[in-house]
Amino acid sequence: MKVKNICCIGAGYVGGPTMSVIAQKCPEINVTVVDLNEKRIAAWNDKDVENIPIYEPGLSAVVEDARGRNLFFSTDVDEAIDQADMIFISVNTPTKTYGIGKGMAADLKWIELCARQIARVATSDKIVVEKSTLPVRTAQALKNILDNTGNGVNFQILSNPEFLAEGTAVDDLLKPDRVLIGGDLDTEKGKDAMQALVDVYAHWVPQTNILTTNVWSSELSKLTANAFLAQRVSSINAMSELCEVTGADVNEVAKAVGMDSRIGPKFLKASVGFGGSCFQKDILNLVYIAKSFGLNEVADYWEQVILMNDHQKRRFAANIVKTLYNTVSGKKIAMLGWAFKKDTNDTREAASIYVADYLLNEQAEIVVYDPKVTEEQIYGDLDYLGSRPDEENRKLVKVVNTAKEACSEAHAIALMTEWDEFLEIDWQAVYENMLKPAFLFDGRKLLDKHKMKDLGFKFYAIGN
Ligand SMILES: NC(=O)c1ccc[n+]([C@@H]2O[C@H](COP(=O)([O-])OP(=O)(O)OC[C@H]3O[C@@H](n4cnc5c(N)ncnc54)[C@H](O)[C@@H]3O)[C@@H](O)[C@H]2O)c1
Repeated sequence: MKVKNICCIGAGYVGGPTMSVIAQKCPEINVTVVDLNEKRIAAWNDKDVENIPIYEPGLSAVVEDARGRNLFFSTDVDEAIDQADMIFISVNTPTKTYGIGKGMAADLKWIELCARQIARVATSDKIVVEKSTLPVRTAQALKNILDNTGNGVNFQILSNPEFLAEGTAVDDLLKPDRVLIGGDLDTEKGKDAMQALVDVYAHWVPQTNILTTNVWSSELSKLTANAFLAQRVSSINAMSELCEVTGADVNEVAKAVGMDSRIGPKFLKASVGFGGSCFQKDILNLVYIAKSFGLNEVADYWEQVILMNDHQKRRFAANIVKTLYNTVSGKKIAMLGWAFKKDTNDTREAASIYVADYLLNEQAEIVVYDPKVTEEQIYGDLDYLGSRPDEENRKLVKVVNTAKEACSEAHAIALMTEWDEFLEIDWQAVYENMLKPAFLFDGRKLLDKHKMKDLGFKFYAIGN
């Protein structure tokens, strides 16, 4: 079958960019991205394409190209479901905050709501694609809900996890290492549905990069990929602490280790800890699944990746307090960067939130500058932790528009995100405008330590 109308439920960091690229590359397919969040949809439809709700290099141009032609953003979920022959579910699947599996299992309530809505609205056969990251065997639950409507509609469920990385989403979508499609390989209808999705991607992805597997392998591969990536970060971060006490340099160790072709150089950069919406939640979910099958050793093994990450954030913050003569009370700490990595405005699980919270508990005064994150988001992130009254967060934390302003009269700087523009800062001027001794804590290993020391900074970087 040839797909003519695609609907994507969820206009977030995955649904928005993924569908924009599909629309750009498949001009004969109508793509409608729907969301319950009216503000988000209005931003996707903003006349000025620079105001779309997600910052990703190159994304505005893709949206400009396709929007209004064959790419549409809407809040009319029912209408889009009704029109579509293929429906992507790209809604959020955060860690549960209540009940059984609290703090570990994925909360699938939004997924189930989508399935029930599709079941209610659909009057013609549909291919339903899991784009969200889901626990292995979720497709079975979706199938049970969809097949029990009794309205005679045939649903094929595919798993098509998204591997894009925020900050490079458009490049990743245009040139994916692989596209993974899981489906029912045992039936003709299942194979046809898989082929229909293969044909969508084949508009721009070489066939050799499109993998087809059974559904469970596809679902589990996504969790596994994120677990392996996060594990590498926690592994090098564990070594960074050992480097600090032995005199080894973690960059040198990473280079030497990464040149082994069996290991490879990527994802070996020590830092204040990984963030982002996915790594932690997906590993917790993996741990939960392993535990629920009684595989306690497997669960403990992966849980350690999270524990190491929490430790890394905490020890970075603790080192700031210790270095500033064991107190930051009433001291001004400039935080450069709030996003969980450069080139995104996403702050979910960003290390900066936890470091700021730690320092606020020590009564520090914090001034934040991030080139893409709004003041509203920063306060929202801190309020969400519930560590102190919201008004106190506004009293103790200021958000400013330039790095220079953030660092002026500061006792210390904590560099939290590796934004390229931080390399261009006039560090000499920053040094001159700070209180002395001027402490600089580089949580991303972005800056040249010799240059910073020569300027006069008391300079600390992870793993040195
Ligand atoms: N962010 C990433 O880098 C990334 C990468 C790969 C996979 N994923 C996975 O993709 C999924 C989506 O992630 P995201 O970062 O795009 O999340 P997001 O929170 O940015 O977007 C999800 C959107 O879904 C909408 N939504 C929820 N329920 C809905 C419903 N019933 N009807 C209509 N809209 C609804 C929400 O309003 C929200 O705008 C998650 O499962 C995530 O694990 C994310």
